[in-house]
Amino acid sequence: MKTSQHPQNHLAGFQCLRCGHQEPKTFTGMLCPTCEGNLDVLYDYAAINPRNWMRERDDIFRYSALLPISDLSLTPVQRVGHTPLYHAVRAGASLGLRNLYVKDDGLNPSGSFKDRAGAVALVVARERNAGSIAAATTGNAGSSMAALAGGVNFPCAIFVPASAPPAKLAQILAFGVKVIAVRGTYDQAYDLCEEVCAQRGWFNRNTGYNPFTREGKKTCSFEIWEQLGGQAPDHLFVGTGDGNIISGIWKGFRDLLALKLIEKMPRLYASQSERSAAVSRAVREARRMGIAPDWKALALPTVQADTLADSIAVDFPSDGLAAVRAVIETGGDAVTVSDQEILDAIPDLARSTGVFAEPAATACWAAMKRLAAAGRFSPDDKVVCVVTGSGLKDIASVRRAVGDPIAVDATMDAVLKILS
Ligand SMILES: Cc1ncc(COP(=O)(O)O)c(C=O)c1O
Ligand SMILES: [Zn+2]
Repeated sequence: MKTSQHPQNHLAGFQCLRCGHQEPKTFTGMLCPTCEGNLDVLYDYAAINPRNWMRERDDIFRYSALLPISDLSLTPVQRVGHTPLYHAVRAGASLGLRNLYVKDDGLNPSGSFKDRAGAVALVVARERNAGSIAAATTGNAGSSMAALAGGVNFPCAIFVPASAPPAKLAQILAFGVKVIAVRGTYDQAYDLCEEVCAQRGWFNRNTGYNPFTREGKKTCSFEIWEQLGGQAPDHLFVGTGDGNIISGIWKGFRDLLALKLIEKMPRLYASQSERSAAVSRAVREARRMGIAPDWKALALPTVQADTLADSIAVDFPSDGLAAVRAVIETGGDAVTVSDQEILDAIPDLARSTGVFAEPAATACWAAMKRLAAAGRFSPDDKVVCVVTGSGLKDIASVRRAVGDPIAVDATMDAVLKILS
């Protein structure tokens, strides 16, 4: 018998984000059985004491009262979450913002935000005694899943485009899991992963399919709320591809609102490359549907993504509807920026805040700067940019942005010439 450190969770059931259909908490499917929409996890908020709901832990399982898991003996070995929120005083001053913050989620164990999702998915898979966990990935979700599953020797298979940045591929290989490097796109890897999971009965962690990834990702909102002294920010920017991160952040603040721990939702801004802007297009379409869009009628577009920000290069956004709802229902926006702005933001973010980010994670910075320049904030607004991946994930893009150092002879003459 395993010892359970938290025998009860407060899971109440599931609700389709598209059609509203509900399933009880015993449901083990992944998508809405009525319309194949993505499922939102429901909790029994009345059973949670908002004054005493957090555990004395320094990882995401601090918030286990609002997670769909029970057995804390099955958590990963790595510490996931508890990443710093920096007050970007100098960068803020140059933009006329007194309360600009950067959440550095590149400091998670595998170097990206995805650890939050993988950690919760791993516990659910282990609680269900799944034979294996599998995930399709642009790189980060897979290197995260490989690290977390590999760390506890849980069987794991990763489906990844062979063209993913070498650092991400090497990272996946290092943990000794099965790697299927597909000559094709992320979307093709995604479909293959789904097919194999259906054939073999594996636990499919795919983004925008598995309802539990959003639950892990929402812990970022809980941390921001704690780090801001029990407040929500006014505006929050995050890089968006499939739309699962922004919808997870939305979920976290919805939980806090339901527990009356915040009074209003932050405005959420999906930050996209104009070369991979399916969610932005869908937001425009939803706005055309008026103030109360019929979500069942919203068709999500498929685009031909070719942005250099590989982690947000997505043809079809698999959690797109939730992302659109996150933007529209919070009064936020979808902001597209050019790949050049994303590249320029790498050194800009590093030099003005001290945070080193991969391209997908600087899109939020470029988007925030656009809106700051357009006068969309008041000087005292609390503005948060969530940096979702470390700059070390994609050194080729960093080199495109900053070039290489000029090598010099090992002589004082040469050194003085450089310093002059
Ligand atoms: C670093 C980084 N930023 C942003 C995203 C976008 O998240 P989503 O696809 O859920 O919108 C990802 C997803 O892979 C990522 O790895
Ligand atoms: Zn449905």
